[in-house]
Amino acid sequence: MREKKIRVILASDHAGYELKEKLKDVLKENDIPFEDLSPEFVKDDDYPDIAFKAGRKVVKERARGVLVCGTGTGMCIAANKVRGVRAALAYDEKSARLSRQHNDSNVLCIGARMVDEVTARNILRVWLTTRFLEGRHARRINKIKEYERG
Ligand code: RB5
Repeated sequence: MREKKIRVILASDHAGYELKEKLKDVLKENDIPFEDLSPEFVKDDDYPDIAFKAGRKVVKERARGVLVCGTGTGMCIAANKVRGVRAALAYDEKSARLSRQHNDSNVLCIGARMVDEVTARNILRVWLTTRFLEGRHARRINKIKEYERG
């Protein structure tokens, strides 16, 4: 069952632009409102600028983020610097599912040069429809939140 009231902040760098455009279909299919922070292709833009902006918005607006770059790694590293972001790099449906069930990931990172389009679509579908399992996993997330508070 899909979680209610999800809103997605979508963004990519130049390497992820094309796949990011295709992933809009999945959001539309699922009636999920989204905001595209990278509506134009910008040759040689820098993923940290995009990840920080998107991450801050996700936290401030209690939204979810979907970030696409070449490998997904750069976006994931940068987004996780933003307090409150739990960004997960997913490379198949299982990693996407577990990042929701166990880690309550609020940002999904996908590598456009690492996974094919069908896999990327499936990753996003699973990530959008999987719930956090709470329980012992919430205890662990709370430790991360505590660490972030300093
Ligand atoms: C850009 O060439 C590439 O480095 C970037 O998209 C990403 O893969 C970084 O992790």
